[in-house]
Amino acid sequence: MITFSNIYADSFIKSHEYEQLKPSLSIAHEQLHNQTGVGANYLGWLDLPLDLNQDEWEQVQEKANEIKENADVLIVVGIGGSYLGAKAIISALTPTFKRSDLGPEVVFAGQHLDGDYLNDMFEAFQDRSVYVNVISKSGTTTEPAIAFRFIKRWMEERYDKGASKRIIATTDAKKGALRELAETEGYDTFIVPDDVGGRYSVLTSVGLLPIAVAGIDILELLRGAEQAKKQFDVNDLEQNEAYQYAAFRTLAYKKGKTIELLATFHPKLHELSEWWKQLYGESEGKDGKGLFPASVQYTTDLHSLGQYVQEGQRTMIETVLNIRSQTKTLHVPSDATDLDGLNYLSGKSLHDINQKAVQGAMLAHIDGQVPTSLIELDTLDAKHLGALIYFFEKACAMSGYMLGVNPFDQPGVESYKRNMFALLGKPGYELERQTLEKRLWE
Ligand code: PA5
Repeated sequence: MITFSNIYADSFIKSHEYEQLKPSLSIAHEQLHNQTGVGANYLGWLDLPLDLNQDEWEQVQEKANEIKENADVLIVVGIGGSYLGAKAIISALTPTFKRSDLGPEVVFAGQHLDGDYLNDMFEAFQDRSVYVNVISKSGTTTEPAIAFRFIKRWMEERYDKGASKRIIATTDAKKGALRELAETEGYDTFIVPDDVGGRYSVLTSVGLLPIAVAGIDILELLRGAEQAKKQFDVNDLEQNEAYQYAAFRTLAYKKGKTIELLATFHPKLHELSEWWKQLYGESEGKDGKGLFPASVQYTTDLHSLGQYVQEGQRTMIETVLNIRSQTKTLHVPSDATDLDGLNYLSGKSLHDINQKAVQGAMLAHIDGQVPTSLIELDTLDAKHLGALIYFFEKACAMSGYMLGVNPFDQPGVESYKRNMFALLGKPGYELERQTLEKRLWE
């Protein structure tokens, strides 16, 4: 279902180096599976596909059905792990150009602080039937909280008392401002499990509700993850391809590479790259360590960043994410005049041409001394994406442990928040405000 290959990097990382890494891999595996590593109370995602009980996903599906019946639009309010997973899966599995006959459109808000975006949204959806799913594990994150204040007022102006029946909150079972607000307003709620951090939460109700509203089979997604769990639980580098990927990037980092590019050749995978960047960036980038996760979307970026990848600083590795087969594809028509000289491609499928671009780019980048690895899915569907999520999560946790960091916290995210609160005049931050303003105006 999912395969990984590092043979395209074997002139850079030799087989004996993989051998030497095996003890570290084994230790990381034991730490994860025996819950003895750092951040061990955030390992709920490891067993999620098996633990999610029938009642839970049935409730999610039931609510999704209600929204599908009554809404034209679902606005998902959240930031980071509270929206990226759902956005990734929905973009990958629904038509690029939305059709109104395919159920509600799922859109996102609260992932930044831009007023134009909210204004545009209110204008666009003024005459459409709207539901809202506000998602925050902590229930206190500033960006979604501010956006929700606007959206809540807009919903109440439109639906009066009926607004609370159209708002669903996904948050902690007991604590946080959003939990209190939801209880006071009488919103339906879904719970984010305590032991699953934001960026590992796409297979909880955080991701599953918006994904189900978009018409995607959430059971298939979970089945794919369950299959991947079995496949990627084995403590054996030769058999476990998630561990091979973790080993590839760990060794590349040890040998001085500083950037990992995730390269996709399908625009529908663009948002998946965004989810992947958060997963790896927030999990590994700490204590002055970690590969910087960046993404490119080929062949588009072969005409921009491709130049740098081929000939710029040799600081990067590339991980190509490829889809082997496409169910619906187009075939190049023949043309009597052949003025564009493309008749040599007549009858070929666009997918096959894209696959030649994958191969051509990989070989060129290998020649350009970019150590390259290849992750392949048989096809793009819910089951494969469920498996891919689990593959990346497992490899990320393993990489983090081998790097010697806690892959489940994000202390660095607090620094900008403290500054922003101080500059906004939040009570309790008076001293910091003075210091910061001095630095800005001097
Ligand atoms: O991975 C994480 O934990 C973070 O990216 C969070 O998902 C993000 O900060 C949003 O947090 P919350 O869901 O508490 O609003």
